Amino acid sequence: MHRTAGFTDNKALIDWVDEIAGLCRPDFVHWCDGSEEERAALEKILVDRGAFIPLDRKKRPGSFLCRSDPADVARVEQRTFVCPEREIDAGPTNNWVAPMQMRARLASLFKDCMRGRVMYVVPYSMGPVGSHMAKIGVEVTDSPYVALSMRITTRMGERALKALGREGSFVPCVHSVGVPLAAGEKDPSWPCRPADTHIVHYPESREIWSFGSGYGGNALLGKKCLALRIASVIARDEGWLAEHMLILGIEDPQGEKTYIAAAFPSACGKTNLSMLVPPDGFEGWKVHTVGDDIAWIKPGPDGRFYAVNAEAGFFGVAPGTSQLTNKNALVSCRAGTIFTNTALTDDGDVWWEGLSAEPPAHLVDWRGEDWTPGCGRFAAHPNSRFTAPAFQCPSMDPDWENSGGVPISAFVFGGRMSKNVPLVCQAFNWEHGVYMAATTGSEKTAAADSTEDIRYDPMAMLPFCGYNMGDYFAHWLRMGRAVPKPPLIFRVNWFRRDEAGNYLWPGFGQNLRVLKWMADRARGRVGAAESPFGFMPFHEDIYWKGLRYSREDFAELSRIDAGEALREAERQRLFLEVFARMGKLPEEFTRQQRMLVQRLGRCGSDWSLPRK
Ligand code: OXD
Ligand code: MN
Repeated sequence: MHRTAGFTDNKALIDWVDEIAGLCRPDFVHWCDGSEEERAALEKILVDRGAFIPLDRKKRPGSFLCRSDPADVARVEQRTFVCPEREIDAGPTNNWVAPMQMRARLASLFKDCMRGRVMYVVPYSMGPVGSHMAKIGVEVTDSPYVALSMRITTRMGERALKALGREGSFVPCVHSVGVPLAAGEKDPSWPCRPADTHIVHYPESREIWSFGSGYGGNALLGKKCLALRIASVIARDEGWLAEHMLILGIEDPQGEKTYIAAAFPSACGKTNLSMLVPPDGFEGWKVHTVGDDIAWIKPGPDGRFYAVNAEAGFFGVAPGTSQLTNKNALVSCRAGTIFTNTALTDDGDVWWEGLSAEPPAHLVDWRGEDWTPGCGRFAAHPNSRFTAPAFQCPSMDPDWENSGGVPISAFVFGGRMSKNVPLVCQAFNWEHGVYMAATTGSEKTAAADSTEDIRYDPMAMLPFCGYNMGDYFAHWLRMGRAVPKPPLIFRVNWFRRDEAGNYLWPGFGQNLRVLKWMADRARGRVGAAESPFGFMPFHEDIYWKGLRYSREDFAELSRIDAGEALREAERQRLFLEVFARMGKLPEEFTRQQRMLVQRLGRCGSDWSLPRK
């Protein structure tokens, strides 16, 4: 099935592929066209190698289970590098090595690394093909698993090459699992080299090099590497935003639609929120999914921000996904899906913790070992994933592929905090909102009962910003001034608990009540109470049909303990100090910090939600 470069006349691309082939020395170079025939051939290679287990044809048509090496199961932040010429341009939150030194290191790792293998050339578009908001990347990889996954998660193949054209430019992405094969040697089912893994970005030349890992964000280079780390740099230079955000639209029974983009760190329910099912009481309402992970956002001709989903599929965390938490995700992966590191049922289907209340009586776990309930091990790896095409998701918005994007009315930032952070508050203005977004944190463990253990994750971009985050804050502040009416900014926390550890808010579909309030705020038709953190909804301002939630419980969910909030403000100051020390903290942040402390100082020991 090997196909050569015959179907592109982009000389820069052909020359680059030749150069990489010269370095890595694969036995063959295959240019991917994205066809069905090619998909079937790649699947067969993986099945023959023992890497893909075909699932039951009736239960999961066209789907496979893949088990990774147990040492290659997640993104590896400590082996991810951002390498501009100057260390200060990578900033304190990225690993940096001088590019000359890194290039030398990579040259020796990549030399001859594809011997005995095929090098796949995977052209792809991030963003709808041909959109002025899209970018073309080309990933060369020696992993057929990566080529197939890119086929699902991006617009891959001939259509991307067409959009690139003869003269177009592309982001070059080189990926190798790092395991050359001698003649006749048997390929391991998941080749990788964890000890030598490097995921490297050169922001100035907009290049990505990834070695040693075959998993997710380390290897599917369109996702975190291009669409966030490299794109964030391009966005800074070109005046737009590349963000770790879901995009959804809520539509009321009259057909009025409001789009919201929301950033949460990994494992805070982004995919679930993007596919929210309206709860009882919301008859006639719809929630439309545009994207679940990455938004590219540009000022439009009418002075509003417009967003596209950079991706075309989901690489979703499987555990916890169920009929109750996200039935749209389950429908999305009913067919044509790659499951990685989930468990296998005896009847050829997949299972993971949380999929059903009762686990099956017997499973084969993610490592390929027998598993029975109560054996004390996870059946599925906690970071096991489904890779499924977005078009299979029943809640996809009719406009999700609109090349002009969808207009954004609100930005939402959230984390996982068991105490003190209220359900929702709206920033007083853009500058306050950017400060709020930059100081959003999450407790390191879901069960943490101490707020000392917070990981600050500005805009949920900590692992994904391709430049100095101090400059990134300044870019956000600038972007608010670039449009006459920027979106409102909100902070949410679905995870507050009471003293006994019970969640105070039911979450999931009920979050639509909060999104509705945001939409009403954006349209200027609902009130708010002024708290030291920002505007908060009165109990009366939330639409309660279908849910009994008392005024007292809502007041508890909104309460601010001023002493604790002041300690938190101090922790935020300490977190931001590292940017201040390198002269990268915007002065607006110092002002916001001061004003927050003043507001808290004025409210006594507690701030409580007043009656309307
Ligand atoms: C992801 C992540 O995989 O954020 O989307 O880690
Ligand atoms: Mn993500």
